[in-house]
Amino acid sequence: MAIHILGISAFYHDSAAALIKDGVIVAAAQEERFTRIKHDHAFPVHAVSYCLQTAGIEPEQIDFVVFYDKPLLKFDRLLETYLSYAPLGIRSFLMAMPLWLKTKLHLPREIRKALKNRYHKKIAFTGHHESHAASAFFCSPFEEAAILTLDGVGEWETAAIGHGRGNKIKLLKALHFPHSVGLLYSAFTYFCGFKVNSGEYKLMGLAPYGKPKYTDVIMDHLIDLKEDGSLAVNMKYFNYCQGLTMTNGEFDRLFGGPPRKSEENITQREMDLAASIQQVTEEIMLRMAKTAKELTGSKYLCLAGGVALNCVANGTLLRSGIFEDIFITPAAGDAGGALGSALFVHYQLLNQNRDAPKKDSIRGSLLGPSYSNSEIRNFLDQQKVKYTHFEKEEELLRVTAREIANKQVVGWFHGCMEFGPRALGSRSIIGDARSDEMQCQMNMRIKFRESFRPFAPSVLAEDAGKYFDLDRESPYMLIVADLKKEHWNELSEEQRKLMKHSDLRKRVNVSKSSLPAITHVDMSARVQTVDEPRHGRYYRLIAEFKRQTGCGVVINTSFNIRGEPIVCTPQDAYRCFMCNDMDVLILENCVLRKSEQSRVDESDCQRHMDSFELD
Ligand SMILES: [Fe+2]
Repeated sequence: MAIHILGISAFYHDSAAALIKDGVIVAAAQEERFTRIKHDHAFPVHAVSYCLQTAGIEPEQIDFVVFYDKPLLKFDRLLETYLSYAPLGIRSFLMAMPLWLKTKLHLPREIRKALKNRYHKKIAFTGHHESHAASAFFCSPFEEAAILTLDGVGEWETAAIGHGRGNKIKLLKALHFPHSVGLLYSAFTYFCGFKVNSGEYKLMGLAPYGKPKYTDVIMDHLIDLKEDGSLAVNMKYFNYCQGLTMTNGEFDRLFGGPPRKSEENITQREMDLAASIQQVTEEIMLRMAKTAKELTGSKYLCLAGGVALNCVANGTLLRSGIFEDIFITPAAGDAGGALGSALFVHYQLLNQNRDAPKKDSIRGSLLGPSYSNSEIRNFLDQQKVKYTHFEKEEELLRVTAREIANKQVVGWFHGCMEFGPRALGSRSIIGDARSDEMQCQMNMRIKFRESFRPFAPSVLAEDAGKYFDLDRESPYMLIVADLKKEHWNELSEEQRKLMKHSDLRKRVNVSKSSLPAITHVDMSARVQTVDEPRHGRYYRLIAEFKRQTGCGVVINTSFNIRGEPIVCTPQDAYRCFMCNDMDVLILENCVLRKSEQSRVDESDCQRHMDSFELD
């Protein structure tokens, strides 16, 4: 009899469910994709039901349900932190209480209720960092590896070093709340005017515009960083234990004024702060990685936890050569904990055999729902939408590649939706990376997001070394590498001046390379390598684009607008397409052109856009 294990993460951010059958991943998805609420933290009812449906089982047929952390220990941290700051933290404490009393402290009841009271077996709870560690190691191609997990906070742990061998992992060392590299990074995210637990990625993207002039201030005042990578945060400057903000007045004084308000102009201060905290984070990660190497003697490293989504730091770590190779799990944040906890039960608790896979076992992270051509055509016909259906894939790819080469912005919807925060070629917006205007155009008119944000390239795996200083695959877009020098443009005097302009749009628009749309201001790129076994049709699309243009690189950005979760269904995709300046939409084998569609109802679009809170 097959063993089905359902893993769940919920109630913090990025709720998700994952289902494995005999250790093989059947399905995994984040709740936000179904509810259309970004980072939805509610119990993942929809994701659970999608997982069961995909496996073709009923709740009674699940053998184990496992939750990705230990809520009682978390509650213990909350109480103890409150008591040590009381009465200062009373407001945040009282705000947190209702959810704890109503649901979080009664999780078994909530889980059984969500499973329609049809699951009567055990519910397991794994440690938060155990779940992160398991999500990386058990999916990795390594038989044996060091493990490093870094995030804001789990129960008490904020980072852990572990060791994985065969079907077991062991955590060897941990850092405890409130001392946390994730919370430190989030504090700067907050101070620079971005949303905590969401805007960290923007701060990372902003860093190359600045100079790390505050690094010493951070090292001297905010943290005491030890040689082994452990750190003590000086709580005199922070408010996250007792208040509703991340930083306080002392922090403001240290950095010359109050936090930037969101939507205010980004000044040189924010750019320099971003560069500085990025440098500090990389230093912490390097030191922790060295300690992990010393403790385990491993050649390989597995990385997970929200901080592992910092692909700039991951690139630095890879190039440091501390480890021969690194596996970073694509759902490195808390959503991935759902999968990790299920794998933990399978291997660690049930002692099932594990043979390390040749590549990884996460199947390109394409673990979400897919939709057939007939479902899509039914929807389009019902809506009376004009489209062309291509029976043959070759023809579809020829047309799509031609549109991209003609500088059309293409919505690409194919196969199973991605698990984790990045779009990897199933729910992506694609453009021509060779175009000078594409970065600004896609930021402002397609995604409605900040102009400074760079786009990522998808490159044919076999061509990655031709374009980037990268000697291995990066299928999950989690490693930043420099564009090779031969693709850089010689800048004129005027362009050099523009590169220092206070208006970031001016800097973005300088044609820095032969692939300007994916080249960041420091000549780096967040590379996704695309291979046929993992990416199938997406690989063949880029290969066709290369056949037509000679260039094996396209822009790949997530299929959504600012504040919107990545699209899940054809309906989500169609709506997103109609409400921005995208030119072409590919829904499996159906091609929709904006120019052929009837005019959209502007107020309906406005309502749609307003329904997403800006992140
Ligand atoms: Fe976490």
